[in-house]
Amino acid sequence: MDPIKNPFSPGAGSPPPELVGRDPTLEEARVLFGRIKQKRAEKSILLTGLRGVGKTVLLNEIERLAKTCGYQTIFIEAHENKELARLIIPHLRGLLFDLDRTSGASDKVKRSLALLHSFIGAVRLRASDFLVEDDIEAEKGTADSGDLEVDLPNLFIAIGEAAEDLKTAVAILIDEIQYFNQKELGSLIMAMHKVQQLQLPLVLIGAGLPTLPGLAGDSKTYAERLFSFPNIGALSKIDANRALEDPAKAAGVTFEPEALEEIYRLTQGYPYFLQEWAYHSWNKSKESLITMKVVQDTTSTVITSLDQNFFRVRFDRLTPTEKNFLRAIAEPGSNSKRTADIATALNIKPNTLSPIRSSLIKKGMIYSPAYGDIAFTVPLFDEFIIREIPNLKT
Ligand SMILES: Nc1ncnc2c1ncn2[C@@H]1O[C@H](COP(=O)(O)OP(=O)(O)O)[C@@H](O)[C@H]1O
Ligand SMILES: [Mg+2]
Repeated sequence: MDPIKNPFSPGAGSPPPELVGRDPTLEEARVLFGRIKQKRAEKSILLTGLRGVGKTVLLNEIERLAKTCGYQTIFIEAHENKELARLIIPHLRGLLFDLDRTSGASDKVKRSLALLHSFIGAVRLRASDFLVEDDIEAEKGTADSGDLEVDLPNLFIAIGEAAEDLKTAVAILIDEIQYFNQKELGSLIMAMHKVQQLQLPLVLIGAGLPTLPGLAGDSKTYAERLFSFPNIGALSKIDANRALEDPAKAAGVTFEPEALEEIYRLTQGYPYFLQEWAYHSWNKSKESLITMKVVQDTTSTVITSLDQNFFRVRFDRLTPTEKNFLRAIAEPGSNSKRTADIATALNIKPNTLSPIRSSLIKKGMIYSPAYGDIAFTVPLFDEFIIREIPNLKT
């Protein structure tokens, strides 16, 4: 069938033809935006889930929702080894200039800008990185201590006050938030804590790997009272079928029931895989019925494509020891994935595993769903690693 008309959209952050199964989270966000605008307390949201479940597309949808609820938004994507301050400054600056333009001359907005400038000074960024043609005086003594846990809350408060003054609200959206270090996450949590106490119209919506609640918890034990952590996961069979059938139907194409069964079996309802299988099956189909046979004939193409892209992106940056550690997690036979079992499989002492384990957590490859347990952050990664490294090296 015509690949140009193919509605399916495999790819990081590619909006799916239909965003199924996420209504409860969107509703939670809608309630949050509504309540905060009315000065009612509500938890900010941190979406957590494995790679490829649809956190980024959901975060984008939530940003659209925020805009329709009258919020000013900024959207940030965290990166490994990129400072929070450096990432957030240009966005906040853009936001404050927008507010300044629309407000005429709000003292609160001017003050926020002044604070932002002292913040910039304090994080010792070269001013030329950010300052173009404006001559705002930095406000000395606020948001310039150099301690992020002090400065970020002050900055957020000032921004919240500016938004309040202008009868608007601000939503800060942060993707891949697990990449921030503990100090940075702690500062964000602290900042949101202050903002909530003062009932200012500023909300934070983050998305990250399942390591996130743990990380946030380490930073500040009260994170759980400030944030809700909806788990974004695989789709139910009904939702998975809808994600495939509805966009196809809109183009006059149907899936054979057995084809849907087979795609669900292969993908386990993980959104990224659903898009990949549907996309390739569409292209391989000769007629407007996507059959079981087509799906089966497509599978090897899809797996090759997944191996070369989705699974491999972060894998190639790992050391041979790290790769073998991952291989041990995938070792069939032991269905439990406890650190101790992995040490046994590798024939080494558990404590020698700690540095490898932490490094793999930091690189976002694995996380700990419960104390002492280890799991992959990428769905179906076990099958990939066995294809990649057929035999465990001990
Ligand atoms: N609710 C959904 N229904 C169908 N497909 C989805 C859904 N959410 C995401 N997808 C698809 O899954 C893929 C991965 O989405 P993405 O947001 O990048 O995931 P994550 O950020 O969790 O890694 C994309 O191809 C997207 O089109
Ligand atoms: Mg993402």
